[in-house]
Amino acid sequence: MSEPKKLYIKTYGCQMNVYDSERMAEALGGKGYVETKSPDDADMILLNTCHIREKAAEKVYSELGRFKGLKAEKPDLKIGVAGCVAQAEGQEIMRRQPLVDLVVGPQSYHRLPEMEAKTREGKKALDTDFPEEDKFEKLKNRPKAKRGPTAFLTVQEGCDKFCAFCVVPYTRGAEVSRPADRILHEARDLVERGVREITLLGQNVNAYHGAGPSGDMTLAGLIWELNKVDGLERIRFTTSHPNDMTDDLIEAHGTCDKLMPYLHLPVQSGSDRILKRMNRSHTADSYLRLIERIREARPDILMSGDFIVGFPEETDEDFKATLDLVEQVRYGYAYSFKYSTRPGTPAAERPQVDPEKADSRLQELQAVITRHQREIQDSMVGRKLRVLFEKPGRQSGQMVGKSEYLHAVHVSDASLKVGELRDVRVVSSSANSLAAELL
Ligand code: SAH
Ligand code: SF4
Ligand code: F3S
Repeated sequence: MSEPKKLYIKTYGCQMNVYDSERMAEALGGKGYVETKSPDDADMILLNTCHIREKAAEKVYSELGRFKGLKAEKPDLKIGVAGCVAQAEGQEIMRRQPLVDLVVGPQSYHRLPEMEAKTREGKKALDTDFPEEDKFEKLKNRPKAKRGPTAFLTVQEGCDKFCAFCVVPYTRGAEVSRPADRILHEARDLVERGVREITLLGQNVNAYHGAGPSGDMTLAGLIWELNKVDGLERIRFTTSHPNDMTDDLIEAHGTCDKLMPYLHLPVQSGSDRILKRMNRSHTADSYLRLIERIREARPDILMSGDFIVGFPEETDEDFKATLDLVEQVRYGYAYSFKYSTRPGTPAAERPQVDPEKADSRLQELQAVITRHQREIQDSMVGRKLRVLFEKPGRQSGQMVGKSEYLHAVHVSDASLKVGELRDVRVVSSSANSLAAELL
């Protein structure tokens, strides 16, 4: 038997890309590829890319440049670009970097095996269509290999919201939800292979409206169905839009036992003037009232969010409104970004904020967020938490896992195994994790 061919995939961007990379590896697994951790011994290199900010997109070209030597040594090496840069830039990638053999957009991953065959004939392969067929169904033939205790599961793709700064509606297309029975089937399959926690994914996951047995199902409906799956212990979902936080989903946070008390709910800005220009269709006040309701349903919920600073025309006063909102919400985690101009989006044409000003705002915001983050994490000391252990820690005999609230927790106990769900008592808090002992 000949040696299996080796596939190296590097993933950038959001969790949906992580999920997609697994599907691509499985699709090419059917063509005899096994994954390798190093590009040096690969027969095929795939970069699964992100287009969300300029830096993310540019990284791809610098990474590709690094493979020049490798390709010179190994003419049979095939290099492919997948993900949102592939979708956004298409053919342009091959023009800018001729060593690229294959460009595949996120909606065409099921066509990867045919495309690979084409590259083996010495041709270039490009597919950035938005095809009609269900790629998830076509990508389903996966090996039944065992896997770690946590998994992502994409339930919804694309976005119809068109925030003025964002490329996602263009790179991922219109919003589409997968039928509930297929998601449940995939979830049961994951559980059989050792998964105990599933994070449901979608660019707009709470807009989920997939076909169920009696009409369209909401995300809450889907979560309640998953709650019945034996062996599945924890359910999470990301990323949500404030306008799609329906009553049944808020209620589920109070009543559904497997749904974890963590919610990523990006607001982007605390200024109504900027929110309007961002086309966010919520106000700071409606967002705060929403959080109040969520906290009524689940008082201990840990909130997380995203912010953009230096959006076109943002004034000091607008920025102050963002700081005020952050003080009111107190996020357990929050991600903040300096606005990055994305060609083709409405905000790209507008008067830009001075980059130095945007930098200093970003630092100021991050300092506040970090303070809250640390205070909330420190408040866990002395508390009883439940941890799903995911992997061995840095020190021998140590295991690391995640609490309900998604804090990293490490415990030194040689008897602990990956995949165990255990009660612990937190003894201390350091920069990025909690130390605990088993109860
Ligand atoms: N669908 C998700 C997030 C998608 S992108 C949502 O609606 O929340 C993840 C985050 O990247 C966004 O929440 C936003 O904060 C940030 N982002 C998107 N476009 C950006 C841009 N042009 N410049 C800077 N940050 C951006
Ligand atoms: Fe982008 Fe807005 Fe859609 Fe989120 S809701 S993916 S930020 S357009
Ligand atoms: Fe990036 Fe595409 Fe995700 S642009 S954030 S990889 S949807």
